[in-house]
Amino acid sequence: MEIDQKIQFSSSNKLIHLLNISNMSREQIFEILDLAETYVDNKQKRYSDLEGRTIASLFFEPSTRTKTTFELASKRLSADFINIDISNSSTLKGESIVDMIKTLEAMSCDMFIVRHSISGTPHYIAKQVGEKISVINAGDGIHAHPTQAMLDMYTIRKYKKKFDNLKVAIVGDILHSRVAKSLITSLTILSVKKINIIGPKILMPENLNELHVEYFDSLEDGISGCDVVIMLRLQKERMHEALISTDDYYKKYGLTSKKLQSASRDVIVMHPGPINRGIEIDSDVADGNNSVILDQVTSGISIRMAIMSMIMNNRLK
Ligand code: CP
Repeated sequence: MEIDQKIQFSSSNKLIHLLNISNMSREQIFEILDLAETYVDNKQKRYSDLEGRTIASLFFEPSTRTKTTFELASKRLSADFINIDISNSSTLKGESIVDMIKTLEAMSCDMFIVRHSISGTPHYIAKQVGEKISVINAGDGIHAHPTQAMLDMYTIRKYKKKFDNLKVAIVGDILHSRVAKSLITSLTILSVKKINIIGPKILMPENLNELHVEYFDSLEDGISGCDVVIMLRLQKERMHEALISTDDYYKKYGLTSKKLQSASRDVIVMHPGPINRGIEIDSDVADGNNSVILDQVTSGISIRMAIMSMIMNNRLK
């Protein structure tokens, strides 16, 4: 599917959809992080930013974190939130995705939150919707997961304050991970000092040389001196065949307390979830003092509040 990266901006360069990070500026990313911080600092349970608005979530793939935090974020902003149960929807009777969207538009939906296994689906929908309607990409195929990257940047800034001097390691199945693609893009825009990519060569994208990263096959070498270590799971649902056994993967790339000692002493360990304990990460690391994994989940609420509120506000400008 052709992916139009420019569609997410208005003619005055305001964000009106969030589909990808790749053509966002450092300032636009910080604007979202700063707004999210105001929601956290204010500690208010309810805001009226989206009063009278209707948000529909369309998850064609499973989700716990993204789906739930979008729902909580919408409710905290006083929007009406509709959770479409795709597995019991009229798509099973042959309704196309465009007809489904048009049907929901006829019910006055203002925003669609879309997750789909086919890369580019949220971009496709953004081209089909009416001119006042926004689309947020909640993860498309192996392409992008921009709201996850935003909450990850929020978490990194919370613990490390600045990006410039950071050494960040991303470990795992980069090839099939939309999270990794959006992370690398965001960290590059924010000019971190170093991005190390670690994992089996077979799980690396072909264009690795075009990215601002250094590849390592060894976990200990790759995380050595790193301030942030981001673990990813094997995305088996996107592999046509088993590319590596989980036992072999754990032995070489599973993060244990012992291996983590080669990172910086105050390293933070992150994971977008869901985590697979005993495969990419040991429980004593996932639950240990350096882990900020559940904090990432919490930040997902305020980041998604900020994104939805900003987009709707930009529609009024
Ligand atoms: N990180 C993430 O996208 O998790 P879910 O699949 O649970 O939404």
